Amino acid sequence: MSGLNFIIRREEERDYGDVFNIIERAFKGVDQSDHREQFLVEKLRKSSAFIPELSLVACSRGSVVGHILFTKIHVSGHELLALAPLSVSPDYQGMGVGGALIRQGHKAAAALGYRGAVVMGHEGYYPKFGYGPAVRYKIFPPFECPAENFMCIELVEDGLKGIEGVVEYAPEFGITG
Ligand SMILES: CC(C)(COP(=O)(O)OP(=O)(O)OC[C@H]1O[C@@H](n2cnc3c(N)ncnc32)[C@H](O)[C@@H]1OP(=O)(O)O)[C@@H](O)C(=O)NCCC(=O)NCCS
Repeated sequence: MSGLNFIIRREEERDYGDVFNIIERAFKGVDQSDHREQFLVEKLRKSSAFIPELSLVACSRGSVVGHILFTKIHVSGHELLALAPLSVSPDYQGMGVGGALIRQGHKAAAALGYRGAVVMGHEGYYPKFGYGPAVRYKIFPPFECPAENFMCIELVEDGLKGIEGVVEYAPEFGITG
């Protein structure tokens, strides 16, 4: 862990430009990306799946260095969350910013009453923050994806108990499968 000083707070309108740039730069070299995550976030902010309290930024010395977004999803009628996307400025990666954004996001989500979240991502990264294969809960993605990369977390005890099915993302994700 580096000694980087940063705070995490709710994203505000004045951050939109910085967040756009950070997402674009963070995903630039990522093979699994369509490199359009910054546009997805712009669309999600205007959608009914958006929860302002769950769009967070990390700031160091007054500059935005990371962003995380959780939006509403449904699984067999239950409202849960999807973590997507998570972006840390390339200059600030590996310093604990991504992990802090995830933990703070989980805390804020649980305080709002959300019971669980799903994420599609690296199986070496998200388990550090409590995620495990969603298939164990019989929660499935609406697209083809290796089982180990589609994960979920219970934000409260037994949060996903009795919730099974295929995830319905906001239409803005453009998932057709
Ligand atoms: C992935 C990402 C958000 C991680 O943020 P970060 O601030 O660099 O991560 P942290 O410093 O909090 O890392 C915590 C731990 O995860 C590890 N880690 C970081 N990125 C990782 C990755 N892609 N795969 C596996 N492990 C990773 C770190 O080595 C660290 O391990 P440690 O706790 O054992 O030291 C950031 O690297 C990023 O923006 N990447 C490009 C965009 C992206 O891939 N987003 C996620 C889509 S699933």
